[in-house]
Amino acid sequence: MNGKAKAGKLYVMGVGPGAGDLITVRAARILAGLDVVYAPTGKRGAQSLAHTIIAEYLSPTTEVCTYHFLMQGSRAAKEAVWDEVAQTLREEVINGRKVGFITLGDPMLFSTWVFLLQRMLLKQTLLQQTPSRQMTPPSWLEIVPGITSFSAISAVSAMPLAMENQTLAVISCTASETVLEQALLHYDCIVLMKVYSRFSLIRDLLYRHNLLRHAVMMADATLPTEQCWRDLATLPLHEKNAGQELSYFSTILINKNWQLSR
Ligand SMILES: C[S@@+](CC[C@H](N)C(=O)[O-])C[C@H]1O[C@@H](n2cnc3c(N)ncnc32)[C@H](O)[C@@H]1O
Repeated sequence: MNGKAKAGKLYVMGVGPGAGDLITVRAARILAGLDVVYAPTGKRGAQSLAHTIIAEYLSPTTEVCTYHFLMQGSRAAKEAVWDEVAQTLREEVINGRKVGFITLGDPMLFSTWVFLLQRMLLKQTLLQQTPSRQMTPPSWLEIVPGITSFSAISAVSAMPLAMENQTLAVISCTASETVLEQALLHYDCIVLMKVYSRFSLIRDLLYRHNLLRHAVMMADATLPTEQCWRDLATLPLHEKNAGQELSYFSTILINKNWQLSR
């Protein structure tokens, strides 16, 4: 090392929608050479799905750290966890380690990673890099894209996402009913993510706008528990809260120019 400290690096990798062979070659190569990998869990103490996906690519010497991001609770409580994890990652890099951080799908799409990124860029002088005002990515960070859930669902269900001059909106169903309805009215193709607790509302909107036959929903796409519905009208989920029976990993694709055969 010529007396110089070893430079650490953080590799943030999207691990795709679920199937182990839907991660990128680049991510697989990086995973094989890490000192430590940080993997999220949906519930405290539960197994990390992201870790299950990539386990076969890890070196046996790589340390695995799981952490739990709060899905519910106050904003302040969530921010405290983001601060803590960002600080841990920063320290790992300062200590010269090759650090992995894995996220489902793509890391830059509806991912908690982005909250960590904001914090790490603000504090990056600690890592003796250029000030955060400069938009060039810092040399201590590499973000590896992943296959998003909706790309996988489009492929598996053979439903095109968008073509030619069609417009495409990607929306979280945590948005207001007005926002969701405007998207259904004004875009040709719509991806609805985080459907699980709002399925009844979404299905009513699709019914009102005559879009049921242009919609496909998939839960746990590319995982062994995968389910696909091409006729949402038949799903008996009218009752209050019935949508909560859906997997958290449920997404709807709508393409007004693609009518599903019955
Ligand atoms: C926090 S977002 C993560 C999105 C992820 N970064 C991506 O690129 O797809 C979680 C939402 O992604 C969607 N999702 C993720 N994995 C999925 C899968 N295997 N099947 C269906 N939907 C999935 C669901 O809509 C879920 O509520």
